[in-house]
Parts: sequence; structure tokens; C-alpha cells
Amino acid sequence: MLFYYLCMVKDKIKLTESPFTPHLGTIPKAFIGREKEIEIFKNLLSDALINKPSNILLTGQRGFGKTVLMKYLAGIAKEKGFIPVYIPLDESLSDITSLTRRIYGKIKAEMENEFISLKAKKLLSKISPKISHKINDYEIQMSLAITEEEITDTNFSIFLGKLLKGRNVCIFLDETQCILKNGISRYLVNVLYAELPDKAKNWIFTMAGVPILEEKILKATPADRAFEKMIVKAINVADARNILIDTVKNTPISFEKDVCESISETTQGMPFYIQFVGDILFKLKKKGIINNKFYNENKSSIFAELSKKVFSIRLKDISSKGLQLDTIINIAAKQGRTGVSTKYLSNQIKTKNIGVYLKRLEEKGYINKIKRGEYKIQDNLFHQYILEYKNQINNKNN
Ligand SMILES: Nc1ncnc2c1ncn2[C@@H]1O[C@H](COP(=O)(O)OP(=O)(O)O)[C@@H](O)[C@H]1O
Ligand SMILES: [Mg+2]
Repeated sequence: MLFYYLCMVKDKIKLTESPFTPHLGTIPKAFIGREKEIEIFKNLLSDALINKPSNILLTGQRGFGKTVLMKYLAGIAKEKGFIPVYIPLDESLSDITSLTRRIYGKIKAEMENEFISLKAKKLLSKISPKISHKINDYEIQMSLAITEEEITDTNFSIFLGKLLKGRNVCIFLDETQCILKNGISRYLVNVLYAELPDKAKNWIFTMAGVPILEEKILKATPADRAFEKMIVKAINVADARNILIDTVKNTPISFEKDVCESISETTQGMPFYIQFVGDILFKLKKKGIINNKFYNENKSSIFAELSKKVFSIRLKDISSKGLQLDTIINIAAKQGRTGVSTKYLSNQIKTKNIGVYLKRLEEKGYINKIKRGEYKIQDNLFHQYILEYKNQINNKNN
């Protein structure tokens, strides 16, 4: 009897657990859209198998789904016999030596894993003579690999070439915009575009990051065609609806069509916010149909939760460096349909370094360059939060 009761409780808990994934980088229960990008990637995999390596530039605003898309592409690559290597980057790697060592080290480690699992298969006698041959081949290749500490700026492409030669490998660099300082863009583009293809040919190198990444890379290479460009954009109303409806399949919750449209509008089609809003509504409703009335009643508590969990942390990050906070507050206060000019900002904040602050904010993905010398916060919800924050400060000061 007790057991029966416990099972019921457990089932209940399970039922009310939210299926949404309001966390960056987390694979969603329902992965929607991105068909075009997946198609392009599959074609590039086929190219790599016939000795045509590729470089992909994957850009998009924070929360639009770059990391998740890369994880999917890594899965597809693996299915097709490639070794996927995912490498998240951060500012500590923004010198050529640290970066090249990290990339080389991570690729080598993944290849060793692959090698060990092949050997394990052999031990278990689950292996064909063809793969046996591959193991011997691997053995020789891995024994020639050097350690990551031995990698230098000048030998990187040579040893990376040796490591990749004859192997099918897909490398995914995430948050690439963080490391492209001090001539790294030019160095990296040179290695990938000019040097590596001569040494190994069965690979795809994907660099992902916020939109400023494209500008940084293209500054380093006049060869626009060196990169296959993919941009993850906001998702349309139909796809937003699909995320909401598919995610709550087999749960006691359902979404009305109209509310999906409202959520799509407030979130500007950003998957992260759709997951976030879906998650809170799911937890609040517990059971039944979520309609526009319920959504509107709870809108302010959703915004409060977003402020607490996301925006206040962002603002703390922003205020940790120089006049970045002043800069973004001034943008928020002034922006309209168009952006805010650099000239206006440097007058307003009285600094000669406005360019530095704008660049940092852009690198973090908090603001976007609309056109030359003109910036904007494109994320409406974050914009609204900064305006409220500004009002609070003003009220305190009065
Ligand atoms: N195609 C998609 N379908 C449904 N949810 C998605 C999709 N792409 C991303 N998400 C969700 O959106 C959030 C942000 O995704 P992420 O890949 O981390 O964004 P980015 O790397 O661009 O900042 C995650 O919570 C993820 O679960
Ligand atoms: Mg990401």
C-alpha cells in the first residue's frame, strides 16, 4: 500500500516537473527549426569526406540558440563517422599560445578517446579486420602527436595537420568573439584558410559567437568566401508555437494558440526567453490550459523573475568595468527606432574612451551595432529592465 502511494506521489512530482530548459546551452526537449543550417552542414560533411574542408562562421545574438545548434550538429557529425570536438572559449585564452594549446589539446584528447574505444571494441572481439587496420594506423599517428605544452605559435598548424590527417573531425569553437584580440583573428584565419588545408583535408571548423564576431574575422581576411556563414535568427511565430506546444506534450498543461502568439511577440522570437516564459507559466499553472488571460495576469511576475535571475546579473557584470554601465544606461534612455550615435554618447558621458566601452558591451552581446557609429539594445526586455533600473536610481537620488 505504502509502495503504491509512493509511486503515485513520484508520478505526481514527475508530472509537474517543468519540461522547459531555461538555461543557456541546454538541449531543449523540443528542438525546433534550423532546418536550413542543418542542411548546409550535412552538405559540408559530405564535402569533408571528399577532401574539401570548410570553415563555418556561426553568429547570432545571445540566447538565440548557437550553442544548442552546435551540439546538434556535433551529434549529426558523429552519426556520419566524424569525431566532434566542442571547445568553449573565454578571455583567458586570448593569446595565441594559450589558444593554440587549448585547441590542440582538446582535439588530441577527443581523438585519444576515440582510439581507446576502438581498442576496447577490439578486446571485446567486436571488430572487423578493416577496423583492426584502422587501429594500427591510429596507433602510429597518436604516437607521433606531441603534448599540448610543446605547441608554439609557429608549429601549431604543422602538428594540428599531422593530428587531423586522414581523420574526419569537426571542431566547434564557442564564444569565439572573446579571444579575437591582439592579432589572433589574422593568425587563426591564416592557419585555417591558408595553412591547414595543405596538411589535412577532412575537417570542418566552426566558429560561433555574437554578431561582432563576423566583423572581427572579416577584418582579418579580405577573403569573404573563406567562410560559410550561418546566422541564427529569431524564430517565427509558428516555430515559437511549436516550441511551446511540443515541449508540453504528455504533460497536464497545454497552450492556447493566441497565447503562443503573445509570447512570441514579447520574447521577440528568442528561444531562451520562450523557454524561460514557458517554464514559469508551466510552474504557475501546474494543470490545465494556459491562455492569454492567465499570461497577462502573470506577466509582471515573469518579468520580475527574469530581472532577478538574468538581468541583475548582467548589470553587475556590466558595472564591474569602467563606464560601461553609464554607457548602456545612456543608450537605453536615448534609443528609439534608430540607434544612438557614438558622438552623442561621448558628449554625454564625457569620455574619450567611449569606443572601448561600446566594444566591450558589444562583445558581451548586450548592444548591437546598427550601422557605423550607431548602437542599440535590441533585446526589448533587457532594455525595459535598464530603464526601470535608471528610474530607481533617479528616485533614490531625489
Ligand atoms: N531550436 C531550438 N528549439 C527550442 N529551444 C531552443 C532552440 N535553440 C535554443 N533553444 C533554447 O534556447 C536557450 C538558448 O540557447 P543557446 O544555444 O544557449 O543560445 P546561444 O548559444 O545563442 O546564447 C536554451 O535554453 C535552449 O534550450
Ligand atoms: Mg552559447
